[in-house]
Amino acid sequence: MAQLWGGRFTGSINELAWNFNASISFDQRFLEVDVRGSKAHATMLAKQGIISEQEKEDIIKGLDSIFSDVKDGKLVITDKYEDIHSFLEANLIERIGDAGKKVHTGRSRNDQVALDMRLYARDEVEQMAALLQDLLKTISQIMKDNLGTYMPGFTHLQKAQPVTLAHHFGAYFEMFKRDLLRMKDIYNRMNYCPLGAGALAGTTYPLDREYTAQLLDFYGPTLNSMDSVSDRDYLIEYMSALSTIMMHLSRLSEEIIIWNSNEYRFVEIDDAYSTGSSIMPQKKNPDIAELVRGKTGRVYGDLMSLLTTMKGIPLAYNKDMQEDKEAAFDAMDTVKNCVTLFTDMLSTLKFNKDNMEKSAMRGFTNATDAADYLVVKGMPFRDAHSVIGRLVLYCIDKNCAIDELPLSELKTFSELFDEDIFDAISLKTCVEKRLTVGAPSSDAMKQVLAAGDDFLSSFKLK
Ligand code: ARG
Repeated sequence: MAQLWGGRFTGSINELAWNFNASISFDQRFLEVDVRGSKAHATMLAKQGIISEQEKEDIIKGLDSIFSDVKDGKLVITDKYEDIHSFLEANLIERIGDAGKKVHTGRSRNDQVALDMRLYARDEVEQMAALLQDLLKTISQIMKDNLGTYMPGFTHLQKAQPVTLAHHFGAYFEMFKRDLLRMKDIYNRMNYCPLGAGALAGTTYPLDREYTAQLLDFYGPTLNSMDSVSDRDYLIEYMSALSTIMMHLSRLSEEIIIWNSNEYRFVEIDDAYSTGSSIMPQKKNPDIAELVRGKTGRVYGDLMSLLTTMKGIPLAYNKDMQEDKEAAFDAMDTVKNCVTLFTDMLSTLKFNKDNMEKSAMRGFTNATDAADYLVVKGMPFRDAHSVIGRLVLYCIDKNCAIDELPLSELKTFSELFDEDIFDAISLKTCVEKRLTVGAPSSDAMKQVLAAGDDFLSSFKLK
């Protein structure tokens, strides 16, 4: 056990309590950010004349050598240390002597860990934004390739009106676009530096917090030292945004699972993203989609865990906050994997366009358009609704589509039916007549796709 705080103690800590208190098993992933933060802190201390230039050089060199030794496997992070901060400081002192003892001047582990988490989360937000952009590009390509791929649109999971595959995926484009915009919001709100807040009340050293913030690419320092060490809002915001991404992925997973079923056969998932059954030789299961749907619950759980941890914590730092890490890391890792896998799975997904179109033709997705046809010919909508309702019932009985009936039979329902009904309720007409912004016609979709391309090419996180 190598602790930073031995001076005040006479007895030694109970082993179970030590292990219970230690965070090194999970905060060792802060190695890089902790080094980054300490280098910036030392640079600022030297600029302020609090340590010498030489001491700063030694600290930076020492930290860099520890970092590369850990990376090369020459130095192992062990549970002899309480946390990554203690590990680094102890090793620094071992390597450079007294200068190492000065790295913690004007700093507490409270602002140190607050900085580490913020740097780590900020990197994560950047990575997630890049992954979401890849996903959006993949979706946009599917849309461009399928402007004329007709399929049923559903409400209540019942065939409702015809749409196109491009239009269906366009809905997901909008969802993931909002997710990406949320990354931008979060980034811009969180990008302030807590270092210099000390344990809770700042320090008496003449620190230059603006300078440290600048060195670490923050917009500036945070403005209240107690809030600085106890704020985890940005993590909650990020985990909430991650939960929303998962909710979107889960909805799309559910659709892919349904579309991949024997009954639908709208899609075929590439072998690389499916698995078989140990007993049923015929099976090809959509496991990746199912797991993404399943992991959604886990990410919601991580968010709930942090929200609950933070509730009722008095100012300022309390050890409860150490519990932020495992949940946050779990959510970050999980969602990164899910988005990456999903993008790959989508880009290899095969669409059975014929089956989609056949499904749209069967199931009376043109019934609304048939009613509208009668309206155009002069019938009040409510009457037209009722005529087509009876016609649908008749067709269900005869197991045919409305446009498979001869005109003579259609006329027994309304004299207003004429030869032009067949064109008016064809799949193509039903889709292509829907021209309003956001509707499925290829003309409307092309405008939306162009806006999507503009959005993607001009998007900036900062
Ligand atoms: N391991 C701690 C955490 O994750 C670091 C901060 C420790 N601060 C303290 N006062 N014990 O929150």
